[in-house]
Amino acid sequence: MNDVAVSLSQHLRAVAAPTGDLAIVLGQLAVAGKLVARELAHAALGGRLGTTGGINVQGEVVKKLDLWANDVMVQALEASHLVCGMVSEEMDEPLHLPDRCAQAKYVVCFDPVDGSSNLDVNGVVGTIFSIRPKQGRGADHLKIVPTTPFTSRFDGVDAFTLEPTIGEFIRSHEKIQIPSRGHIYSVNEARAPVWQPGILRFVDYLRAPDRATGRPYTARYVGSMVADLHRTLLEGGIFLYPAEAGEDAKSSGKLRLQYEAAPMAFLVEQAGGKASTGSERILDIHPTSPHQRVPVVIGSRDDVVRAEEFVAGRH
Ligand code: AHG
Ligand code: MN
Ligand code: MN
Repeated sequence: MNDVAVSLSQHLRAVAAPTGDLAIVLGQLAVAGKLVARELAHAALGGRLGTTGGINVQGEVVKKLDLWANDVMVQALEASHLVCGMVSEEMDEPLHLPDRCAQAKYVVCFDPVDGSSNLDVNGVVGTIFSIRPKQGRGADHLKIVPTTPFTSRFDGVDAFTLEPTIGEFIRSHEKIQIPSRGHIYSVNEARAPVWQPGILRFVDYLRAPDRATGRPYTARYVGSMVADLHRTLLEGGIFLYPAEAGEDAKSSGKLRLQYEAAPMAFLVEQAGGKASTGSERILDIHPTSPHQRVPVVIGSRDDVVRAEEFVAGRH
């Protein structure tokens, strides 16, 4: 038998030595992932889709499942006894657990349901998280530096797929390597009128036919970064949510540094790709607020380098 039965827990036991604390936190996140997956499978039948009627601190419509999944994540992480701070898209302020500080080692940042506009149509959604060592004492640890690397222990990107009938995540991909160049671009083109000129010229370039350089690229956009980056990790290409100008200006783009852009940047870099704002490496940005947004240009190395060249005005 080959690799068909490497479970996530077995994998974590192998790679998360010596203390196993990180494996415990990841194990709890896996439990939360299974609970959310189960809920999604039945939500439509149980009347649990739709909105709460509320708007979050970022001005976005809140879905019932956003809040439910947030509670599941908080409870699962609290139960680890190893986490004393959490930053979530669905919590206006970071959650600080002072009584855990003495023994806890980690702060976790998460987006409980990414792509939630797809929930009501049974589209692909996912949970994004990053685990960082706590910094300092007390609430100081919420001043998080996102570049704390686990690279020495987590070498590369392995993917695990939930096998629902046995309730286990089973390793489905080992050491994913993003092709150095792709043939797909992924961006919400309806926003093109408010893009900066460099991004506009870059996307025009990708659409222009040129056999020698493999153009035109083709377009795919789910509207769920987890889905669009899952494809990008496996097939290559480029995903963008650039900075915008105009009336409802998103001058820093839409995606949040701490629980969307940075975790995805980490995965993409670990898989040999590149993650940029268009002009700077995402993992070099130090956060200044919990829900800080950054422009995102991420994917195959050569495609991202080319995008940066356009942004810098070299084409
Ligand atoms: P969330 O559902 O957590 O609010 O995130 C949605 C994000 C991301 O997943 C996606 O790439 C992007 O928003 C889509 O935004 P547009 O609808 O503006 O394209
Ligand atoms: Mn999101
Ligand atoms: Mn979300």
